[in-house]
Amino acid sequence: VRPRVFVTRQLPGEALGRLGRLVDLHVWPQELPPSRDTLLAEAARSEGLVTLLTDQVDARLLAQAPGLRVVSNVAVGYDNIDVPACTERRVVVGNTPGALTETSADFAFALILGLARRVAEADAYVRAGHWRTWSPTLLLGTDVYGATLGIVGPGAIGSAVARRARGFGMRILYVSREPRPALEQETGARRVDKATLLSEADILTLHVPLTPQTRHWVGRAELAAMKPGALLVNTARGGVVDPDALVEALREGRLGGAALDVTDPEPLPPDSPLMGLPNVLLAPHIASATHATRGRMASMAVDNLLAALEGRRPPHCVNPELFP
Ligand code: GLV
Ligand code: GLV
Repeated sequence: VRPRVFVTRQLPGEALGRLGRLVDLHVWPQELPPSRDTLLAEAARSEGLVTLLTDQVDARLLAQAPGLRVVSNVAVGYDNIDVPACTERRVVVGNTPGALTETSADFAFALILGLARRVAEADAYVRAGHWRTWSPTLLLGTDVYGATLGIVGPGAIGSAVARRARGFGMRILYVSREPRPALEQETGARRVDKATLLSEADILTLHVPLTPQTRHWVGRAELAAMKPGALLVNTARGGVVDPDALVEALREGRLGGAALDVTDPEPLPPDSPLMGLPNVLLAPHIASATHATRGRMASMAVDNLLAALEGRRPPHCVNPELFP
């Protein structure tokens, strides 16, 4: 009998077609995620789950899903999953690193350029019919070429951003527990302490996973320590930044601007103060959103799932200790 698998959303590409030939497949058909109750009920009946970052997999879900063997997240981040609780119940967890590295770095750079050069504001200005003449003072921004870039989290995506920054003649600083000699060699990046990073970066870009240690990594104190007028770019997780402190720093003009692909909460409510601030560039968590990359992510998630259902270690496993 084929294992029952629940997938919490339609996925692009051929991956689900392939999966459907091998398992008893149930795909949530709607655009909005399944409700908590639906997810719990589906998990309780399934051996495999394919989840997105909007789906909470926690101890309660696991307790009600005795037959569950694998949770395959279609994302590199897995802060929506209680991994220790999964490991305790011998539930394998998979994710999709690598597939989205360059695509996400492209988007981080799109936000850097878009924020610094006010691209969204310029577009809105032209469309609104405000453009009367070429003006020497119209929509002045800040230079990206030659600026100092501060990278928080020089992992795969952070390093890919650094390589792009090199082409923009940027001075690259990073903070990390471990030195990254290969990255330094390739991009001229320099490892500094947090205080130096904050005080010297013209643009600060975040690439850490959300963990208890990185929650509110950028808080009131950090925002106060940043260079006046600096720009903040977040393509990591909303929770890495303290949202109240961010709004305060933007309102007071201490921060020059923020470009946010991720927010806390997500999505932003319509009355969020961020919506009314002109020096904020917003995107709906789309850093990995290209046809090719989303297809690859779906395919990797299916490969991870199938491996675990066959008792093999998935190619990308978050709790490999289950396979000694
Ligand atoms: C997206 O945010 C991901 O973690 O893949
Ligand atoms: C701008 O278009 C210029 O020619 O300087």
